[in-house]
Amino acid sequence: MYEKQYHEEDLNQYSFLVTGGAGFIGSNIVEYLAKYNARKITVIDNLSSGPIENIKPFMNFKNFEFINADIKDYNSCLKACKNADFVFHEAALCSVPRSVQNPVATNESNVDGFINMLFAAKESKVKRFIYASSSSVYGDNKTLPKKEEITGNPLSPYAVSKIANELYAGVFRKIYEMNIIG
Ligand SMILES: NC(=O)c1ccc[n+]([C@@H]2O[C@H](COP(=O)([O-])OP(=O)(O)OC[C@H]3O[C@@H](n4cnc5c(N)ncnc54)[C@H](O)[C@@H]3O)[C@@H](O)[C@H]2O)c1
Repeated sequence: MYEKQYHEEDLNQYSFLVTGGAGFIGSNIVEYLAKYNARKITVIDNLSSGPIENIKPFMNFKNFEFINADIKDYNSCLKACKNADFVFHEAALCSVPRSVQNPVATNESNVDGFINMLFAAKESKVKRFIYASSSSVYGDNKTLPKKEEITGNPLSPYAVSKIANELYAGVFRKIYEMNIIG
């Protein structure tokens, strides 16, 4: 897979951290990075929804490191960010129904975990923090096509957590001059 190359520079110059790297999107990012010889790929994942099978093919990659840990633990986030140039932040509890059943758990991973990762990335001086946002941030606004500035009221705890990510990312960009993309 990934015959089409989306990057311009040699990935062998850079180290990457993929949070939630055992999940659907994260493991595909890992596959891309491995195919194009990234210098180092680190994954942090607590395997709560992503199966270990998704990253098994990369375990033998000489510069691959798997950290089986939770982003709710700040020190694990700091450890994962060490020497990372770029962070792809994909770890989250993704289910809207699950967020309705257990909003506390969603908040812990998606908001507390998010700010742990963001602050650890800032402390580690990463070059860029790229995080997965969600169309849920558009809330109940029915306008099409979707535009970033046209939002409505959130419809679930999951949506609230994703909006909180946007707010923290904007503030971190301003106060710490971090390079962040959602
Ligand atoms: N798949 C989609 O259609 C979609 C759409 C919009 C946004 N997103 C966002 O993209 C990101 C990735 O989604 P996905 O579809 O790959 O989900 P996924 O559930 O397949 O992957 C998420 C990964 O994060 C891990 N994880 C969850 N909580 C964790 C924690 N506290 N600590 C460490 N690891 C944890 C899980 O074990 C899993 O491997 C999420 O932020 C999600 O909200 C996904």
